[in-house]
Amino acid sequence: MVDEALVARTPDEIRALSYEWRAAGKTVGLVPTMGALHEGHLSLVRKARSECGKVIVSVFVNPTQFGAGEDFDTYPRNLENDRELLSEAGCDAIFAPGVAEMYGEGSTDLSSGERTFVEAGRLGDVFEGKDRPGHFRGVATVVAMLMGAAVPHRAYFGEKDFQQLKVIGRMARELHMGVEIVGCPTVRESDGLAMSSRNANLGSEEREAATVLHRSLEAGAKLAADGEKDVSTILRRMRGVLDGEPLVEPKYVAVVDAETLEALESLGERSARILIAARVGSVRLIDNIALPFVRSE
Ligand code: PAF
Repeated sequence: MVDEALVARTPDEIRALSYEWRAAGKTVGLVPTMGALHEGHLSLVRKARSECGKVIVSVFVNPTQFGAGEDFDTYPRNLENDRELLSEAGCDAIFAPGVAEMYGEGSTDLSSGERTFVEAGRLGDVFEGKDRPGHFRGVATVVAMLMGAAVPHRAYFGEKDFQQLKVIGRMARELHMGVEIVGCPTVRESDGLAMSSRNANLGSEEREAATVLHRSLEAGAKLAADGEKDVSTILRRMRGVLDGEPLVEPKYVAVVDAETLEALESLGERSARILIAARVGSVRLIDNIALPFVRSE
């Protein structure tokens, strides 16, 4: 029998709980999520559990990070199932506010220009930010709000959303939030597909085709591991793999500096990452892979 995780519905409730735990000398960990939890989220909860005395998981589908015509309405939601999974994973409290509790007055018109928002800067304008204008402004804003509500010592994010991890790390640093941002490895299905709540919206043929994202990343990383430094050669190999799946429409594939996200032309001493995004049917998927350092002779 597992202890039921407490459920807080308002920022004041979760803040009171967090202050109580902090006053008792506990380290508080926060795992921000939009729910529809899978093993990837649970790995973050376990990591937080192993490092913190108390673990809060937020479950909030944040409207300000979805653009017009994106999948806010169809984003999978299942709080009852999430609650069971979180209790089993040893989460102490779930913060599950509604839009009105989170955004308060004016929550029915979030684009009125009245509200305070956090701008993500250049890191939020490239790749996902370019294809989804305003996305990282919404992410940075809601994560800042979650930090203000749950006042954690540490917050845990998956590397699957690599650009998001970088945007949030920089925000926490530059806004002196006093929260340690912890990045955790991507969890994959047995065929390599990165776990994502959006995978639930893939049809069976699309689900199979979606594995090409990881296959192309692996092909690129293997070429780099074999010593290829020229980025255009790596990207050409990846495009070749992607072209084999007509159901998959690539949005971008790029080799970037892992810190600045600046596109690279050749691999060198700096840590690099390949980022990829693609549309599979109506579902937009992203993934990434770390590249080995290439030492010059
Ligand atoms: O990665 C997510 O699920 C969301 O972008 C986050 C960080 C919970 C903010 O809504």
